[in-house]
Amino acid sequence: MRVGILTGGGDCPGLNAVIRGVARVSQVRGDEVVGVREGWRGLVEGIFEPLGPREISGLLPRGGTILGTSRTNPYKSEGAVDAVRSNFAAERLDALVAIGGEDTLGVAARLHREHDFPVVGVPKTIDNDLSATDYTFGFDTAVWVCTEAIDRLHTTAESHNRVMVVEVMGRHTGWIAVMSGIAGGADLILIPEQPVTVEDACLALEKRHNRGKDFSIVVVSEGYELTYESGETRAVAEQTLDQFGHVRLGGVGDVLAHEIEERTGYETRVTVLGHVQRGGTPTARDRVLATRYGLKAADLVGEGRFGRMAALHGDAIVDVSLDEATKELKTVPPEWYEVAKAFFG
Ligand code: F6P
Repeated sequence: MRVGILTGGGDCPGLNAVIRGVARVSQVRGDEVVGVREGWRGLVEGIFEPLGPREISGLLPRGGTILGTSRTNPYKSEGAVDAVRSNFAAERLDALVAIGGEDTLGVAARLHREHDFPVVGVPKTIDNDLSATDYTFGFDTAVWVCTEAIDRLHTTAESHNRVMVVEVMGRHTGWIAVMSGIAGGADLILIPEQPVTVEDACLALEKRHNRGKDFSIVVVSEGYELTYESGETRAVAEQTLDQFGHVRLGGVGDVLAHEIEERTGYETRVTVLGHVQRGGTPTARDRVLATRYGLKAADLVGEGRFGRMAALHGDAIVDVSLDEATKELKTVPPEWYEVAKAFFG
């Protein structure tokens, strides 16, 4: 068999570990492995490279993706889906492993549904917002990076009696904010799923300061919309859309910090963690998860079970349908927010 691998969407710690896992099992089985460059763009334009034992050596701790990535959506350009299918056939590929989040895997699901395309998926994203799996790889690393940053910001907050606002990624879900906020001991966490008003947020900080705590750490998820008692809401995003229809988020931390300082009088600073959360080497947990996902994807290919995605349920690696995984976003359940809330104010 000739097995193609592509990585799509934002880069993410652990991508290379998955590539290594898939390639290793496939090669041992006697399959040939082919890298598809830059996500779906590589299939649309026919850009491939060999992935032999030498190419996959040393990949486990390496961040980013050796295959490159893009947010190309073949369903957005005339003739691109046909190009994907014809380039796949011309390269004599028998199967594809698509490693990505809801966008990349949404394309995989549709190709399989509409054209019986032989594809299996691996759930990647630092946002952890993909359904049908407990965790995506990359999330643990992002949470760890944010936790470390929160720990460091604590010292400045405490020394200067400041409110430190930390803006983290996560798109329209607050997984990174809640988990790193709990781990870092945040005094307030604001996420899209739990619309706390700006007035209530300031009250919680004042309550804390009245208890004699002169500093606070506020973690805000980039997709949080500021809401006010009046019912007014304010989303902070650039209005340019990518090929999957997503706005570019970022900047809510600044607006929130300004509101807090104005309303409470506490000196406030903001730190936007940005792409640091996605960079560098994966944690041990992500390396192991990515490796297990890679092995499972290779097995699914070997068994000819296409239209499936490797998933984590509890501690077991299982497989689920790509349709199920991409049908809706996995949001933060209220129980998780309750854990965080026990330490607010
Ligand atoms: O989906 C991963 C993610 O890092 C989001 O958390 C973030 O909103 C987005 O990608 C940023 O995208 P880009 O790298 O295109 O700026």
